[in-house]
Amino acid sequence: VLHSPLSRLDPTVLEVLRLGAYQLLAMRSVPAYAAVSQAVEQAREAAGDGAAALVNAVLRNLRAAGDGPARFPDAAADPLGFLETWGSHPRWLLERWLARWPLDEVRALVEANNRRPETYLVPLEVEPAEAIRILAAAGLEAEAVGEGTACVRLAEGVSPRDALAVLPRAIVQDPAAHLVTRYADVPEGTKVADLCAAPGGKALPVAHRSAYTLAADRSATRLRMLRDNARRTGRFLGLVVADALRPPLRGVDVVLLDVPCTGTGTLQRRPDARWRLRPAALEALVRVQGRMLDAAAELLPPGGLLVYSTCSLEPEENEIQLEAFLARHAEFSVEPTGAVPGQYLDAFGRLLVLPQRTGFDGAFAARLRRAA
Ligand SMILES: C[S@@+](CC[C@H](N)C(=O)[O-])C[C@H]1O[C@@H](n2cnc3c(N)ncnc32)[C@H](O)[C@@H]1O
Repeated sequence: VLHSPLSRLDPTVLEVLRLGAYQLLAMRSVPAYAAVSQAVEQAREAAGDGAAALVNAVLRNLRAAGDGPARFPDAAADPLGFLETWGSHPRWLLERWLARWPLDEVRALVEANNRRPETYLVPLEVEPAEAIRILAAAGLEAEAVGEGTACVRLAEGVSPRDALAVLPRAIVQDPAAHLVTRYADVPEGTKVADLCAAPGGKALPVAHRSAYTLAADRSATRLRMLRDNARRTGRFLGLVVADALRPPLRGVDVVLLDVPCTGTGTLQRRPDARWRLRPAALEALVRVQGRMLDAAAELLPPGGLLVYSTCSLEPEENEIQLEAFLARHAEFSVEPTGAVPGQYLDAFGRLLVLPQRTGFDGAFAARLRRAA
């Protein structure tokens, strides 16, 4: 409802407008007249009478428009403009997604990203039904997610801290991330190295089946989180601060490589991330991921298993990255598994979880077997 670009506005006045708009449209506890008059006074104090008049006009207009998309580009006439503004997503990301999916699917993704995220627990030692009984006995409501995820969804208002207090051998994790672990299908009794392990979402569940799990990460701070999670869940793993580009290891059967990525599959949980992400960051990450894959491949003996995963939706980090790896490493091939329901697998036996189809986060993973 402003007639000049936001960039021309005094930054303090812009903040006042933002706070006022938030109070008017989202914070039902503040009466509209109070929100407007408070903002007008703040603008007057910060930038004088002209700013006060502007804030008054803009907020009154905004209030008249209501909290729907009335003042936004029309969804039918200008779908990209609508998704960019009303949907609050950068145009470059939308354009990438529109090149791959039909408009209604991109719209579903934008809506999924703007929904309040659910909180899920993965019980490590009991079935979801038993976890739900334990939580209920403590007055904490939860329900099974089903669909092969082995997760439970906490009811709105149930704090994960309270849930972990009665069910310590569990981790807080989205079903998409847990599907990666299930898809990895690490054989029992193997020696596993997780090269990007912190805070342990994959390493902790795997540690239960493996003979030994080494959890490595470049970040000591994040490894400390993993150590705390290991203590709570009663898991034994080796911890090492190490660079996945130069892993100081030998003699493992399985390598997990849950690489740093753009995280475009988890935008629902990180509302600011979409606006901080830049195309150049994608390019840089793709290069690092490729080098990490090469380093991980070096570690594995014939017959070894490499599990590559991301929480990105971008093909450069997923399918294209993988095809480039397989072109460089003819000794590896994708090995499908029946450990997750077929609805999460693509035609090549790779894991693909999409927020717009599942309501979960997004995830991609590939099991890569080195020829014996
Ligand atoms: C996607 S997160 C891993 C999440 C973890 N696997 C889980 O499920 O909880 C990526 C991790 O890679 C680590 N990382 C980034 N660059 C690295 C590098 N060069 N070597 C080792 N770890 C790195 C980050 O510190 C971060 O913890």
